Amino acid sequence: MANRAEELDPDVCCIDDLKSRASVQLPQMYRDYYNEGPMDLLTLRDNEAAFDRYKIRPKILVDVNYIDTSSELFGTKVSFPLGLSPTAMHKLAHPDGEVATSRAAAATGISMVLSSYSTCSIEDATAQGLEIPYAMQMCVLKDRKITLHLEARRGGCKALFLSVDNAVLGKRLNEFRNKFELPVDMTWPNILSHSSVHSDGVYYDAGMNLEETIPWLRDNSNLQIWLKGVNRADDVQLAIKLGLDGIVISNHGGRQLDGVPATLDVLRECAPIATGKVHLAIDSGIRRGSDISKALALDASHCFIGRAAVWGLAKGVELGIKILLQELRITMALAGCRSIKDIDSSFLSVLQPNGILAKL
Ligand code: LAC
Repeated sequence: MANRAEELDPDVCCIDDLKSRASVQLPQMYRDYYNEGPMDLLTLRDNEAAFDRYKIRPKILVDVNYIDTSSELFGTKVSFPLGLSPTAMHKLAHPDGEVATSRAAAATGISMVLSSYSTCSIEDATAQGLEIPYAMQMCVLKDRKITLHLEARRGGCKALFLSVDNAVLGKRLNEFRNKFELPVDMTWPNILSHSSVHSDGVYYDAGMNLEETIPWLRDNSNLQIWLKGVNRADDVQLAIKLGLDGIVISNHGGRQLDGVPATLDVLRECAPIATGKVHLAIDSGIRRGSDISKALALDASHCFIGRAAVWGLAKGVELGIKILLQELRITMALAGCRSIKDIDSSFLSVLQPNGILAKL
């Protein structure tokens, strides 16, 4: 059909289709673990709904014959400003685990942040893509030696993404109801190679604070350090004060504290403080290429997807990434944006309760 975008797959046209596919394929225990979150899933749902609260304001008569979606992360070029968020235990969704997700990131030229709870080794995962930017997610654990062991095995990683939203795990009802457990033959090789999972040392350090942790990490690593899980303007200010390289506005895909605001709303509040001082990225709730454009318009420089990649493991992670790129390109063409830097807040409005559109 003339003018219609390329068909990427006969059955899967969008990320929602990918979710449906994955959801019928995965055993209930793992499906619920990935798809759900804590308590009433208020934040999980709001993360997605927030994108719908912003309206796109297309500019007419812009020559969009050539659209450049390229961007960069950690000084390395990427095909578009998207990356894979750290999500745990990809082997639950596909036998090749993080090696498969990494292969897809490499094939599409996007970034990838590996989870500490990867079921493949960092080395095997990062060996898939020599050209793309990788980072390693880190939880500060009670045993700092195990924590640093992750850093030492950093492979091709250029940054550490320190999780700052998990003093404890959120109360995920599905995990209780399904009696969620890892299969006995599955491990976390990047943690277990140093110590036993049964040791208390692998529990999250609920006493960690940034003033002590960041200088300690800087003494032990020359990688960039980003904070993942920032939700308040004063914490953005603290991150700037401590000289952090980047911040990910994240609520862990709505998997930790239920009731916190959608990340897109937090981004709008925090971007004016961060811009020009610290790199700013966002995850949680991105399901469409147009969602990426909205986050960029609100001044995020990079977006990350978590569940969409896990769903992709059922049918093709590469397919999921290509769907998002295709949708971003269509959004840019129809909105009159030729390049990523063209996407700014003039392309968004919100509909006020009085029915009048307000500029940002
Ligand atoms: C989760 C943890 C592992 O979200 O970060 O399940």
